Formats: sequence, C-alpha cells, structure tokens
Amino acid sequence: MKFPEGFLIGGAFAANQVEGGCREGGKGLSTADMFQFDPTVKGGQFELKADEIQRAIQDRYDERYPKRRGIDFYHHYKEDIALFSEMGFKALRLSIAWTRIFPKGDEEYPNAEGIQFYHDLFHELSLHHIQPIVTLSHFEMPIHLSMKYQGWADRKLIDYFLRFVHTVVDQYHDSVKYWITFNEIDATIHIPFVGAGILPDQVSNLETCKYQALHHQFVANSLAIQYIHETYQDLKVGCMATKNLKYPSTCKPEDCLAFLHETIDDEMVIDVQVFGKYPFRIKKLWEKQKIKINMESQDEKIMQAHTVDFVSFSYYASLVTSYDKSKAETTNSNLLVGEKNPYLKQTPWGWQIDPTGLRYSLNELYDRYHLPLFVAENGLGTIDELENGCIHDTYRIDYVKQHLQAVLQAIDDGVECFGYTYWGCIDCIAASTSQMKKRYGFIYVDQDDYGNGTKQRIRKESFYWYKKIIETNGEALVD
Ligand code: BG6
Repeated sequence: MKFPEGFLIGGAFAANQVEGGCREGGKGLSTADMFQFDPTVKGGQFELKADEIQRAIQDRYDERYPKRRGIDFYHHYKEDIALFSEMGFKALRLSIAWTRIFPKGDEEYPNAEGIQFYHDLFHELSLHHIQPIVTLSHFEMPIHLSMKYQGWADRKLIDYFLRFVHTVVDQYHDSVKYWITFNEIDATIHIPFVGAGILPDQVSNLETCKYQALHHQFVANSLAIQYIHETYQDLKVGCMATKNLKYPSTCKPEDCLAFLHETIDDEMVIDVQVFGKYPFRIKKLWEKQKIKINMESQDEKIMQAHTVDFVSFSYYASLVTSYDKSKAETTNSNLLVGEKNPYLKQTPWGWQIDPTGLRYSLNELYDRYHLPLFVAENGLGTIDELENGCIHDTYRIDYVKQHLQAVLQAIDDGVECFGYTYWGCIDCIAASTSQMKKRYGFIYVDQDDYGNGTKQRIRKESFYWYKKIIETNGEALVD
C-alpha cells in the first residue's frame, strides 16, 4: 500500500502561530495578538474581556504576547522552507495574516509590504517545488474589526473579508491552486472570540450572536467560492472544520440519542459547505431555543449555488458522550471538553489518541459527502526534551505512523483522500495555551514559553523518519 500519485503530503501551520514580526511590514494587530501566556491556564485560553483587549492594544511590550513573536518565521522563512524541502514536502498548508494585507480590516486599499511578503514566500516555496495550500482565515482577524463591529456578528464583515479575498487571490492565483476559506469554522460556535472576533462580555445574547456570525461566514465562504470559480477556473476551494469525533459511551439507546443530539453542530458545519443548506434539525433547535438568525433573501440561494470542491478537516483526538453526565470523567480535546474513553491513551494535555478514529472519520465523511477529502491537520502536541542536542521523539513517530496508516487503510477502503498536512511541522505557539512547551514539530525551535532562546532550528528524530515516509510515498509505513 502507498499513497496515490500526486498525494499532497507535507506540513501545516498558521501565520499567527509562526510569523512574529507583528510590528513589521505595516502589519496591524490581530485578535491572536491579544493573548498573553498564562502558566495557570490548562485546557486553553480562548476569551478576553473588552478592557483586557484595550490594555493589550496599548501594550508595546510584545514579548509578553507569544503570538506577536511566533517563532520568527517572518525572518526565518527561507531557512524553514529549506528544511521542509529536505524532508521532501509536497505541500505546505499556511495562512495569510489578514492584518498584513489590511492592517485594520476596513481600509479600502491593501498594504503593499504585506502583499510583497507573501509573494516572496510563495516564490521561495516554488523554488523547492512545495505546493502552498492557503487558509484565508485561521484564528486571526484585525482586532479593529472585533472591537468596532463585534467581528463576524456584523454583516459588514462579509464585504471586508471579500475585499481581502479578492486582493490575495488576484495577487497569488498563479502560485496557489488550493484555497481554504475558514479554518475550523465550527470554532465560531465553540470559541467565538477566536473563531469570529466576538467579545462575549459585549453582546447581550451570545448564543444568537454566535450562529449569526457563523451564518455570515457561510455566506462569505460561498461568495469567495463564487469569485474564485468564476475568475480562475483552475483553482480549488474548500472550507475547513474540526472533526470532533465522538462515540456513544455504550449501546444504550439513550446514550446513542445523546450522541446524535450533541453532534448536530459538527455535522451542520460541513453539511452547509457541501449541500449549501442548514439541516432541518438545526433549524428546529434554533426555533426551540429562540435563536433567530437574520438571513437575507438571497443567502440560501448563494450558499446552495457555490459549494466547496473538497472537504478538509483537522483530526487530533476523539471523545465519548453519554446521556447521564453525572458520573462521567472528562478530558480536553481540540476545542471541546468531553468524556474519557477507557480504551485510549492520551497526550499530557488530555487529547485522546485514536488513529482508528481517523480511518472511521475518513470513511464517514466520504460516504456522506462524496467529495475528495484533505486531512488539513493532525499531530501530536507533547513535551520534547533535548538530550545532548538531539530529540528522540519516537512517541511522535508512533503517533504519525499510526495515523498515516489509518489514512492508507481508508484509501484502501475506497475513500478519495488527496492530501495530509501534519500540524505544526515546525514547533510553533500553541493556539489554545499560547505556549511553546506543547510541541508538535519535526523541527525543534529553541524558544521557551517566555520567548527566551536562540530560535535555532534542530531536526528531531521524527524529521528523518517523515522524510523516509515521503520518499517512499508511504510504502515505508507498512510493517
Ligand atoms: C487546531 C488549530 O485547532 O488545533 C490550530 O487549527 C492549532 O491552529 C491546533 O494549533 C492544535 O492546537 P494547540 O492548541 O495544541 O496548538
């Protein structure tokens, strides 16, 4: 068994977690730039109050804000791309920082220096024959849009986002053939400040506000697809969601029903991308919960006419759910907290490791949507120790090996999957906890949670292993 011809294997990261250079090239401050590292935070810090943000905007002491410094990819990109190339990457999924192109978000004209930066970056990738897969909105938007408009809760965001989309697609369409509109679009429901720039302490009805913002993102997603399809026929567009895989804790019918009810949001966020309409169950739920979404008359028509070319998702872990939660032992996962699964091991951050769940998810998604699938994120965030200048991360090799084997098995089951980009291929700032200690990379970056360190890049043992996997197009995965 091996990957199909042209399989897009490589790595992934987001601008706000790697770039740094937050005051350079005319960049504006983003929502991600507001978070400080707080060692007392366990699962993740996803929310801030308006007065905390006001203070953060005034604060020029950038070292306190890990996503303002990233891993300084802004200055190290050539060196880092050379390392990805050494591993043989076919693809790199990255995001464009909206704030480099439109620092405040509602300006009429883009920032030329920001545009040039990504031209240089894509040029460098092309020299190494690495295909960029670009996410347009990855947990980062101009903080100005969040403070002035409550982010995506305001319909005006659709226009500002589209201005950004048209600008970058017009600029980079020769270099970038795959575009992803929103990273983990479900984040708007689960972590609304990170996903949509909503300040929970500033809105009167958070539930309604979240779904309203999500609706605006869906319309923006379809209008972006329309523009790209009509203007550049050779480009492919997807949106992206978290595959929050859950299992009912038992075969007791009540547990299965609880599972069905709890997964409705997760199902809905991909259904809308693919079918262009909301599932009847969600509409009924909104009615019962008195959630009234303002939709313009043409919205549903637009959503149905312009749907994604492929389904992309992140997959890290799975959870369990039961009807009676009183006795349930809980654990963290990507964006969600859920119940523990006694059959699975977990990372130090409580994410339950479940490679079989990836095969299951690929089959489930392909069955439901009949569209090509792309594993946009998957990875192990854990603690790495430097021993005599080396990192022997055999645990990471095991994790990736098992998950890639699951991809191969799913392909063998008949699933069409055209790519896999390992998350955090180089150590970067964690999205949830803004720390460095939770490392994903095949490449170690010498920097601690407070920004101390030389930022030297060191190849881990997994670096050489991943290189071999790519060289053999996956054949080396078979024991
Ligand atoms: C996904 C995000 O939710 O999970 C990434 O798209 C993020 O931005 C990744 O980094 C892993 O989460 P964390 O919090 O461990 O960085």
